[in-house]
Amino acid sequence: MTDPVNDSRHPGVRIPAALAKALASARRVVALTGAGVSAESGVPTFRDALAGLWARYDPLELATPSAFARHPKLVWDWYASRRDALRAAAPNPGHRALVEIERRVPSFLLATQNVDGLHAKAGSRSLVELHGNLERVRCSRDGEVVDRWNAPAADEPPRCPRCGAFLRPDVVWFEEALPAEALERADDAARRCDLMIVAGTSAEVYPAAGLPRTAKAHGALVVEVNPDATPLTPLCDHAIAARSGLALPALVAAAWPAHAAGPSGAAPSAREGGGAK
Ligand code: OAD
Repeated sequence: MTDPVNDSRHPGVRIPAALAKALASARRVVALTGAGVSAESGVPTFRDALAGLWARYDPLELATPSAFARHPKLVWDWYASRRDALRAAAPNPGHRALVEIERRVPSFLLATQNVDGLHAKAGSRSLVELHGNLERVRCSRDGEVVDRWNAPAADEPPRCPRCGAFLRPDVVWFEEALPAEALERADDAARRCDLMIVAGTSAEVYPAAGLPRTAKAHGALVVEVNPDATPLTPLCDHAIAARSGLALPALVAAAWPAHAAGPSGAAPSAREGGGAK
């Protein structure tokens, strides 16, 4: 057994020294994220029993093509209200830690199920959005992204300025396929990575939830960051039971102690830097 790394700047988060070492020496890293990574930015998750979106709303009435066919205005308005709520949300230390990891490993891909755009806002560059992006709007007929439209009739979503079909959010609904190119890129990276970080996802929605299994089957070390256990936990080499806003910065600090940023964003002195032995 290796000693866990304890960092006074990330109280309560214990990073195993073997994990810190594996991350520091990894050549290819993939991160898979879900709604939990944005929870500390005030964005609700889906499956939290009390505050989750699917505890308050029925996904079959809001997040399927047939729901949109039945009640286009209701579905449009629900996504528009989520889009408005997101305007106040800012990336948190978990998002920023993933940017740090991207900067430090030779090859990195962040595959997110989140549609909130916060990873891009934080500065992640090598990013695939598996479930689309709430900010974007597309034509419901041909899928073309549209960024301007006329004010809609009161009881309808806006219409495509080219063909007149309803506009819809550019997100993936239940019963729909993921964008093929995004999924292919994530799957390819999962097959080739030597370490995968799975943060803030219940790992219940496929095909995204299959990516850690693919990585594991191809020999990668898999680490989960989630305060709660998921169906993936037994498969993981390391499970860090903590919020990602604490655990991911702790992971960066443990892997690269000399470079880790302090709480204020300033580089800490060597004395503050605690880390992997
Ligand atoms: P879920 O709501 O299913 O899961 C969120 C996970 O985040 C749970 O396992 C929580 O324990 C964990 N969590 C909560 N707070 C956290 C924190 N501060 N740090 C780390 N983890 C935390 O969300 P997803 O797994 O993203 O799809 O859901 C997957 C997909 O299901 C979504 O993309 C969405 C949804 O239906 C579509 O809309 C297509």
